[in-house]
Amino acid sequence: MTNKLTLKGVNKRFGGVVVADGIDLEVRGGEILGLIGPNGAGKTTLFNLISGVVPMDSGTVELNERRIDGLPLYKRARLGVARTWQHMRLFGSMSVLDNLMIGASDYPGESLMRLIFQGLTVRQAERAAREQAMDILGRMGLQNLAQANVNDITFGQQKLVGLARGLMSNGACLLLDEPMAGVEGRAYETMRDIVRQEAQAGRAVCVVEHNVSFIRDLCNSAVFMAQGRILERGDVKTLLESKVLAELYFGKQGTQT
Ligand SMILES: Nc1ncnc2c1ncn2[C@@H]1O[C@H](COP(=O)(O)OP(=O)(O)O)[C@@H](O)[C@H]1O
Ligand SMILES: [Mg+2]
Repeated sequence: MTNKLTLKGVNKRFGGVVVADGIDLEVRGGEILGLIGPNGAGKTTLFNLISGVVPMDSGTVELNERRIDGLPLYKRARLGVARTWQHMRLFGSMSVLDNLMIGASDYPGESLMRLIFQGLTVRQAERAAREQAMDILGRMGLQNLAQANVNDITFGQQKLVGLARGLMSNGACLLLDEPMAGVEGRAYETMRDIVRQEAQAGRAVCVVEHNVSFIRDLCNSAVFMAQGRILERGDVKTLLESKVLAELYFGKQGTQT
């Protein structure tokens, strides 16, 4: 079955401020949807609503035709909502590997615990999580840094570790919140390749990003959000040429490529 994330009529206010205003969205497995818009548009909030960090006021979120709004964060994670965070949440005094292992048990019921419930002993479950973590680090060319302290690696490598943590849950969908901010060179290419591979493996991927080159490189289609509303949607090329976007986004912020 093709994975599918579907939002219908999602609304959210913080106090008097509308941050999600009737959001309809569908992302299918294999697809990489770009989500762009100025700061404060409500992009991170949308991810928080999908993943269950904050409750929405009304609307529905479905993963593979099953409603997940109303479920707590850890259950949504278990059902396949994987994400990364705009502001890095790594444990500074710990190794890269331990950061991933913690990612595995970030949400009760996810990965490590699930393995235990499948009848594996804690030790077997730990070993499986460790193997999975080393696999992911290997895909990123970071296996040699497994034992390094996350404080001692480059910013780009830290962002990759943030992604690696998200990948510890084998989710049906992957929400990436500004994965490229401050990332360049080799780490940029690795990030792009891994995200592409995850989509090819069948995940429905949604990426918030200001880096237009990254969106252009990677996304099939994109939506443009401002003040909690989706103002434009379509294929990336058309969207990036849109007048509304140019005025509301680049007009104020200057072209970012
Ligand atoms: N937990 C919260 N409580 C109150 N206001 C919030 C909260 N999270 C976000 N906001 C507000 O919602 C708006 C959208 O923020 P955000 O989703 O972070 O935007 P973006 O990611 O597009 O920059 C902003 O005005 C922000 O201050
Ligand atoms: Mg944000």
